[in-house]
Amino acid sequence: MRATTSVRVAGLFGLAALAVVGLGMTPASAPDDPAADRKVALITGSTSGLGEALALDLAAEGWHVIVHGRNVERGEAVVEAIEAGGSGSAVFLPADFASLDEVRGLADQVRSQVDRLDLLVSNAGIWRPAEEGRLESEDGHELHFQVNYLAGYLLVEELLDLMEASAPSRIVKVSSVAQAPMDFDDVMLEQEYTDFHAYSQSKLAQIFHAMDLAERLEGTGVVPVSVHPATIMDTRLVEERGMAPRTSVDEGVEAVLAVALGDDVVAGAYYRGLERAEPHAQALDPEAREALRALSRELTGR
Ligand SMILES: NC(=O)c1ccc[n+]([C@@H]2O[C@H](COP(=O)([O-])OP(=O)(O)OC[C@H]3O[C@@H](n4cnc5c(N)ncnc54)[C@H](OP(=O)(O)O)[C@@H]3O)[C@@H](O)[C@H]2O)c1
Repeated sequence: MRATTSVRVAGLFGLAALAVVGLGMTPASAPDDPAADRKVALITGSTSGLGEALALDLAAEGWHVIVHGRNVERGEAVVEAIEAGGSGSAVFLPADFASLDEVRGLADQVRSQVDRLDLLVSNAGIWRPAEEGRLESEDGHELHFQVNYLAGYLLVEELLDLMEASAPSRIVKVSSVAQAPMDFDDVMLEQEYTDFHAYSQSKLAQIFHAMDLAERLEGTGVVPVSVHPATIMDTRLVEERGMAPRTSVDEGVEAVLAVALGDDVVAGAYYRGLERAEPHAQALDPEAREALRALSRELTGR
């Protein structure tokens, strides 16, 4: 297959150049559209680790995969591996989730490239080492809160129409067993910061979002869920923290694919691996859920 590389400038919101590197990808409306007649998945954070493995697995089953991350070299390599596999197709769309404008730009690019979206896996995530201290996004929000949760919230809001039009479709939030309650007087952790709390509250926020979406989307055929993939998998996130892996990425892939493709999935539920589980008790507090909803609307305008 011919490899093409194109670079486009996203005009909206005064974005800096947003490189779109597509290998063999043409717009969805073109007659030789490789995405035509394929199911389409957007997997955020698929330039490495769990996301990459999910992208390769889905493509091997014939899906068209939108690969996402920041690292162009790794993104291109994933697309090339998919193209070489010969079953699926792929395109790489880079966007830094530390910028909400880049999240909006990613959604615009998705809408311009495909006319359906069967699966959105909100997987991009960070857990920065303690010694880096508290970090902020370009938008001035605590970095884990934005990259792990708020960017995924906004991306779903931006793509919900497409997902409803593509129903039955699924939204999978890759969360974690590491969950901590949010203090809505200090969600940005300006008063007290630890990297573990920052990571864990962002992972609980993802679970809140799947629960809220399930209520809003009842009857639409769009099913949102959250899942803890596996504990301390052999990924870059784990390696960069100097932890010894305890599980393999394959285990995480199995858990995510079970909720992404399985039959008996309950909308809004949280799964720990292959089993349905109870999330942190704050997820059952309607006031906390409303507080996060209101904050997310305020911060994203959606
Ligand atoms: N590893 C585990 O044991 C474990 C356990 C439970 C849950 N999880 C969750 O699994 C998910 C995947 O993690 P992983 O372990 O596979 O880690 P990983 O290999 O480090 O992958 C993280 C992915 O997120 C992307 N990413 C990071 N920062 C980003 C940003 N600012 N903007 C856009 N994309 C960004 C990375 O791409 P670029 O570097 O190209 O930007 C990469 O593709 C995370 O949500 C994590 O919380 C992991």
